[in-house]
Amino acid sequence: MQKKFVINDEYKPAEDTFFLADYIEKEKGTSALDVGSGSGYLTQLLCKNFSFVIGTDINFQVLKTQTYKTSNLICCNGADAINYKFDLIICNLPYLATEEIIDIATDGGKEGFQIPKQIFDSVFDKIKSQGKFLFVTSSLSNYQKLIDYAQKFGLDSKIIAKKKLFFEELILVESVKI
Ligand SMILES: C[S@@+](CC[C@H](N)C(=O)[O-])C[C@H]1O[C@@H](n2cnc3c(N)ncnc32)[C@H](O)[C@@H]1O
Repeated sequence: MQKKFVINDEYKPAEDTFFLADYIEKEKGTSALDVGSGSGYLTQLLCKNFSFVIGTDINFQVLKTQTYKTSNLICCNGADAINYKFDLIICNLPYLATEEIIDIATDGGKEGFQIPKQIFDSVFDKIKSQGKFLFVTSSLSNYQKLIDYAQKFGLDSKIIAKKKLFFEELILVESVKI
């Protein structure tokens, strides 16, 4: 994830997007939610193996002009506007540890925990029993704090993949609702 300086830009598919894409291609089910849909790349991918797919993003402008368009888009924090439980929820988090939130596509706030926590608080009760939450974080954030947080909310959480890049290591976490 590279730091940008324009607040309202669409987050173009990047290494972290493709890292998550490799894993969600193997997932199948009825319903899936992509939190922080951005360009819609991952939301569109989910539509191949799930019959009911929703994408959310906090950035209305980005949803309006998405490059990879899908039908069911909602502008909200996390899954705040949704009253439904999904088989799978995915999120390529804004995970960078930053003192302030300047770019909402990438900045996670203190320890890279502040914004992810906001998203987690919103999605935890939208996962079906035995459903999965897959999220991407990185060595540039306090990812263990995030994993512990998910665990505290009854999600059996473990790192399922890592990918070394030049300046960071991407981390994919799978959390299963017990
Ligand atoms: C790293 S980008 C990922 C975009 C896309 N999913 C991808 O993988 O290429 C994070 C996205 O999350 C959105 N976002 C940030 N905070 C959010 C929040 N609290 N609720 C929903 N979406 C949020 C941003 O606008 C941005 O589009």
